[in-house]
Amino acid sequence: RRTQVGIIGAGPAGLFLAHLLHRQGIKSVILETRTREEVEGTIRAGVLEQWTVDLMQDLGLGERMRREGHFHRGITLRFAGESHHLDFEDLTGGKRVTVYPQHEVLKDLVAARLADGGELHFGVRDVGLHDLTTDRPRLTYTTRDGEPQVLHCDFIAGVDGSQGLSRQSIEGRTEYGHLYPFGWLGILVEAPPSHHELIYARHERGFALLSTRSPEIQRLYIQCGPTDDVAEYPDERIWSELHRRLETVDGWTLTEGRIFQKGVIGMRSFVCDRMQHGRLFIAGDAAHIVPPTGAKGLNLAVADAVYLSRGLDCFYRTGRQDGLDRYTETCLRRIWKAERFSWYMTTLLHTNPAESPFEHRIRLADLDYVVHSRAAATALAENYVGLPLD
Ligand code: FAD
Ligand code: DHB
Repeated sequence: RRTQVGIIGAGPAGLFLAHLLHRQGIKSVILETRTREEVEGTIRAGVLEQWTVDLMQDLGLGERMRREGHFHRGITLRFAGESHHLDFEDLTGGKRVTVYPQHEVLKDLVAARLADGGELHFGVRDVGLHDLTTDRPRLTYTTRDGEPQVLHCDFIAGVDGSQGLSRQSIEGRTEYGHLYPFGWLGILVEAPPSHHELIYARHERGFALLSTRSPEIQRLYIQCGPTDDVAEYPDERIWSELHRRLETVDGWTLTEGRIFQKGVIGMRSFVCDRMQHGRLFIAGDAAHIVPPTGAKGLNLAVADAVYLSRGLDCFYRTGRQDGLDRYTETCLRRIWKAERFSWYMTTLLHTNPAESPFEHRIRLADLDYVVHSRAAATALAENYVGLPLD
């Protein structure tokens, strides 16, 4: 079997890439180890940057998002019992925060891919990468029905997430990592919204985040230990922490409801400084990880897909490789800024047991600065809504 671009992984990076290539008339095949139900049912990120929203519209994938997404003017930073509204629409000249969960984005992209007649194989096994430094790389895999297959490609996109195998094929790479001494416990709750926008709260007991999913379902997170088990968090403990961390001097109240999903995620930063080896290009979580505080993970994965699609478009239209040769460099400029911002938001808002009293006061000064200086608030806002694509 043959295609132009073999795509390993049907996450945001893989699916956006397939749609971008389709629009450019470039054929691709997506191979995914999980089932469609697993891909569409995994609860992950929630916030889309403005340009990601615009891209979905451009690709004709934004119809349900327009109807069901939540569009916010800004966010609230809460600390010392006070709320401070940051009006991103005002600070960035009209850009907004869109809450539309990752698995809803994936449902829309999968449905459109299948409707376009595009190839997308779920439940495959034993994916192998071969002949990457030739101009005829191959993928081998076993189908869901147990049939061995060979897929001959011009290029391979390794978009198989942080645990994927593609990165292992990138020779000469340097990996940069940073571990944080905390994690997030995330819950889904049956309740009406407690606030019309997201609240990022700093508190001595730890960070808390109030987000939403729908008028009936809310998403909340609290800082926890990096290896904590959800079993250590009975509902009463979660509500008690949320109430204390989110409380205000003016008596704002959090509406409780039935908790129907709980999960813990660890927090780390990671960058692989090479994203190409021969005809293999890696993108998204396969190449970099950010802690979730800046809401950047999904958006960064999509940005890589855009840059890769541009390089491939140039190659197929003109035969020129220079766009592809610059792929790593172009991506890394954006990646390091997103790494910086995610590290900054994480450091600013979490309680770190290893922090010195001096560092603690610097952090409080930083918060005070952000909410009282238009220049500082603008810097936060332009990063949060998404820096322009190069
Ligand atoms: P992924 O979404 O990981 O997709 C990779 C795909 O490749 C997967 O479907 C996987 O099954 C498949 N795959 C893996 N190996 C193979 C193989 N060998 N062959 C074929 N397919 C393979 N970001 C935020 O901004 N906010 C959040 O709140 C947030 N929460 C998160 C919670 C969790 C539990 C996780 C894991 C991530 C979270 N993220 C969050 C990050 C965000 O979801 C990711 O940045 C985003 O999914 C990256 O997209 P991707 O396409 O690069 O990778
Ligand atoms: C959500 C996740 C984030 O990481 C974030 O910064 C804001 C919102 C969410 O899941 O809604």
